[in-house]
Amino acid sequence: MIGQAPLKIEEEAAMTPNYLSINKDAWNADAANWVDFAKNHWALEAPVWGTWGNTEAELHLLPEDMTGLEAIELGCGTGYVSGWMDRRSAQVTAIDISREQLATARAIAKEHGADITFLEGNAEATGLPDASFDFAISEYGASIWCAPDKWLREAWRLLRPGGRLVFLGNHPLSLICSPVDGSPAEWTLHRPYREMWGADWTKVAFEPTGVCFNLTISSWMDLFADIGFAVTKYQELYAPEDQMGTRAAIPADWAKSYPVEQVWHLRKPE
Ligand SMILES: C[S@@+](CC[C@H](N)C(=O)[O-])C[C@H]1O[C@@H](n2cnc3c(N)ncnc32)[C@H](O)[C@@H]1O
Repeated sequence: MIGQAPLKIEEEAAMTPNYLSINKDAWNADAANWVDFAKNHWALEAPVWGTWGNTEAELHLLPEDMTGLEAIELGCGTGYVSGWMDRRSAQVTAIDISREQLATARAIAKEHGADITFLEGNAEATGLPDASFDFAISEYGASIWCAPDKWLREAWRLLRPGGRLVFLGNHPLSLICSPVDGSPAEWTLHRPYREMWGADWTKVAFEPTGVCFNLTISSWMDLFADIGFAVTKYQELYAPEDQMGTRAAIPADWAKSYPVEQVWHLRKPE
């Protein structure tokens, strides 16, 4: 069965010029709904990732020992990833555009005695010095809410030669199977893959949010090559078999059959 006719890419792209303020407002308004999730994640003994809780033991997104590493989280939200890096003895900076999300992050970091420098700002243009970090990470932060061409170039600038960037976001397949009204993903192609740029979720009928970005896999690869990043690993994530229900508009059964999330591991050459 064919779903609703997909919007033309140009029509969607034309809706997004003010995505930074749209996303900031959306996250300030939604921040209170993420406090419990944040407390739970900060308190975990070992990290779990993404919407479906895949474990760090399987994925290895963080260096095990981060002693002596300067790390930055781009679009840190409630800061639990930064908390995990602090626990691994990294010196951590975390930037987010939402004052309310940062208020949650700062309050929980204080409860945990974490020593993290939180900054309010745009991860596409941090204002931080060149080559000041060894490791950068984004889990559903800049990785989906920032324009890829902008935040990836900024991450490159911030990293030292040999530095690593790891980022997690939605798999492109989950976007093309998502109806344009924001209702849960189906076993149907709802949007074109060709020329994918992301989606404007601000005016959808089901749970409106902000403007998110994604690219086809070949476009991600072309962009990394253009910037100079080497891809060291690419992971496609599925929901663990014991997961049920629907999360972030994706049914668990869908996410067990198709890759729901992707993780790119990049390296800035020496
Ligand atoms: C899903 S949350 C971050 C994920 C984090 N792991 C968490 O769950 O707390 C997304 C965050 O991206 C932030 N964000 C969106 N656009 C941003 C931008 N241009 N610069 C920095 N942060 C941004 C939002 O304010 C929000 O806090």
